[in-house]
Amino acid sequence: MPLIVDIHTHVYPPAYMEMLRGRKTIPYVHDPADSNEAPRLIILSSDDDPSIPIDQRGRPVDSSYFDINVKLTFMRRHGIHCSVISLANPWLDFLEPSEAQKWAQLINDDIEATCAQVNRAADPKGTLALHEKETLFAFGALPLSAPTPDIVVNEIKRLKSLPHLRGVIMGTSGLGNGLDDSRLDPIWAALEETQSLMFLHPHYGLPDEAFGGTEATNRYGHVLPLALGFPLETTIAVTRMLLAGVFDRFPRLKVLLAHSGGTLPFLAGRIESCIHHERKFVANGGDVVGPQRSVWDVLKTNIYLDAVVYGTAGLNAAMTASGTDRLLFGTDHPFFPPLDGKEGNEWPSVTTNYKAINDAFDTEDASVAAVLGGNAARILDLH
Ligand code: URA
Ligand code: ZN
Repeated sequence: MPLIVDIHTHVYPPAYMEMLRGRKTIPYVHDPADSNEAPRLIILSSDDDPSIPIDQRGRPVDSSYFDINVKLTFMRRHGIHCSVISLANPWLDFLEPSEAQKWAQLINDDIEATCAQVNRAADPKGTLALHEKETLFAFGALPLSAPTPDIVVNEIKRLKSLPHLRGVIMGTSGLGNGLDDSRLDPIWAALEETQSLMFLHPHYGLPDEAFGGTEATNRYGHVLPLALGFPLETTIAVTRMLLAGVFDRFPRLKVLLAHSGGTLPFLAGRIESCIHHERKFVANGGDVVGPQRSVWDVLKTNIYLDAVVYGTAGLNAAMTASGTDRLLFGTDHPFFPPLDGKEGNEWPSVTTNYKAINDAFDTEDASVAAVLGGNAARILDLH
């Protein structure tokens, strides 16, 4: 039985849930009038549609989102030994500038304490190997709306001193203007200097107009925002980083892309070709020097990809683009629960990913073991 590490698994710590309960604009949690009904989590812009009765907006949110024991049960059910937990979207992006630092410290300290407590209980003497127990590590959240970037830099450095933190999770808005914003340079520098992995995760998707407007978007539940909006958002964000030369200026930056890089592995050749045909970005009268490093080089040097893509075609693209040694198993728990909601059942969202990994590597057991856990243990120094 190989070591299994889940690097894409989220939590909303109870304090964060309470904060969302106190809000009336997205992101917020709404308690339905009927107390037998689960609270609703309203975080995506299309969820906040006034034509939908408030008790039906968004999605139900149960204890799997905030109770770590429920995650441990989920891990056990799916054979997962180790989870690298991260705050779920939209992280701390929406906070007032004066609140951001306080919340980042509170959430990161809370997550560190949870990891420490769970790990101590699983292995009081500290003698067991990773595959012999249940262990938690974490990616921290950043106070990106703080008044100045040095507050973010300080939090990146502080996270380095927390024993179970292994990097940061970040959305695509950066300091509010996307990830090609040069004001992010001190933050990239701090991530590079501390060799902290940045887990880049979508939240904002595409404007509802891309899907025909809010009503048309919501006609199909969350399918369009999650199946298409999320991966395209990631693709656009990382491509803007490439075009702005972020990987030229910070060649040792380490970025883990959610959902196998969105569509980046599939589109890398086209992106590279379009850059070549511009040299400088002169098409609209511009004079900006393009990126010096090739997309392929960045994919194999700076980028890691999760294996949360639910099919062999996507996995093959990811493997070809970045390499088997940079691909890491994940679940996206507690999102995408089984529709029947039965306790004790396996989650199709997880078994589909397990099957895709086994099918993609056929009989190459060493590659399967690397993707399921070996890569994560090495890259994130889990021990
Ligand atoms: N839906 C979300 O809002 N976030 C995820 O990470 C997955 C699904
Ligand atoms: Zn996720």
